[in-house]
Amino acid sequence: MKDLHYAFVLRRLATILAIVILTLSLTTAFTGVLLAFYYEPTAGGAYNSLKAIALEIPNGWLIQRIHNIAGNGVIGVSLIEIVVMFLGEKFNRNWLIAWISGILFTLCVIALGWTAMLLDWTQLGYWRFKIELGTIETIPVIGSFVRDIITGGGAVNTMTVQHLYTLHSYVLSIGAVILAIIHLGGLLLQEQEDKQSQIELNPVFPPN
Ligand code: HEM
Repeated sequence: MKDLHYAFVLRRLATILAIVILTLSLTTAFTGVLLAFYYEPTAGGAYNSLKAIALEIPNGWLIQRIHNIAGNGVIGVSLIEIVVMFLGEKFNRNWLIAWISGILFTLCVIALGWTAMLLDWTQLGYWRFKIELGTIETIPVIGSFVRDIITGGGAVNTMTVQHLYTLHSYVLSIGAVILAIIHLGGLLLQEQEDKQSQIELNPVFPPN
């Protein structure tokens, strides 16, 4: 009975974390769209436009800060979620839907953080990107092909910023929001199932 209660608490925690994940994803996507109104995805222009957002646009600094905190926060929460889900594992259909979507979501937000590296066009971002590109190049057979796709020809310039921005703001962010919804949906269905089995097992201890 103690083990059952422990697993139940873990699964409830996973649902709460999934709600936090969806809230943070929607907040980041919304603030990202607000940033996009003024952000200029070009080499040099990116730095100047983000500086203007922070210093000249009313409440721009706040939107930027919320995007950064929620964007980095969701990476941390999704990693915690994976551990919590692993400990409260159930291996039925709904748990597997939530588990697979949770892992894909985590990979998606890590990629969102990675593609944001060059978006501010600072010295730190530029050189970090150059180093990581060097690592990508060393992948056997496909290394230089992947580098050319990411950079848009090999050199790090405006084309690279545009490629990363497209991946960040369209492909990955839409994917992350869809996966966060599927993840929460799977866990809510699992909650219903848990409630049902708790009532069947012990009618004197129905979970609230
Ligand atoms: C689930 C959706 C999203 C997530 C998780 C996310 C995450 C992030 C992260 C982690 C950063 C780096 C922050 C830092 O540490 O400096 C970032 C930067 C940025 N993101 Fe997003 N993002 C999302 C959606 C979007 C969308 C939809 C857009 C635009 C349409 C966007 C535009 C930007 C821009 C312009 C930056 C650079 C801002 C800066 O460096 O201050 N993001 N994002």
